[in-house]
Amino acid sequence: MTQATGPAEQSPVAPADESGGLERLRERLQDLKHDPGSLLEALYAAQETFGYVTPASMELISEELGYPEAHVFGVVTFYTLLYTEPQPKHIVRVCRDLSCRISGAEKIAARARKEIGVHPGHASADGLLKLELVSCIGQCEKQPALMVNLDVHGPATEQGVSDLIRRLREEDQ
Ligand code: FES
Repeated sequence: MTQATGPAEQSPVAPADESGGLERLRERLQDLKHDPGSLLEALYAAQETFGYVTPASMELISEELGYPEAHVFGVVTFYTLLYTEPQPKHIVRVCRDLSCRISGAEKIAARARKEIGVHPGHASADGLLKLELVSCIGQCEKQPALMVNLDVHGPATEQGVSDLIRRLREEDQ
């Protein structure tokens, strides 16, 4: 999908202090070391720590969990909820698939776009919010559904979207 650039958009925010973050991540990885299915959990932990999966955190996860770095990188780039570049604190993902579209996802997306002030795929001027239009998030019973980071919201209403985005902004003032 082509995404236009608007005047209220800017580069994403910088990551947290990396050396302290890596130490905290190393501690979290100790519990995951012996669980063969823990790679995704480790990558989400890295993303929680830095706002995205940094090259150094991929290296650390590879070392600690015993996966080749190429495999770790492949998993990060496969999953759309994982990022290899700095991201805003809150990523608002509006589902645009069939069930949600029938229930008014286009209006929800339009309201989110208006409130955040950007086109999908871009960050707000304050670097706090990003809007994404995504495929089914597995919450069709909550149609029209959206997520803020990993938290699901729905059935969404236009007023609910306005309130949600206002609360997210207020939390960070
Ligand atoms: S189609 Fe929107 S959550 Fe499934």
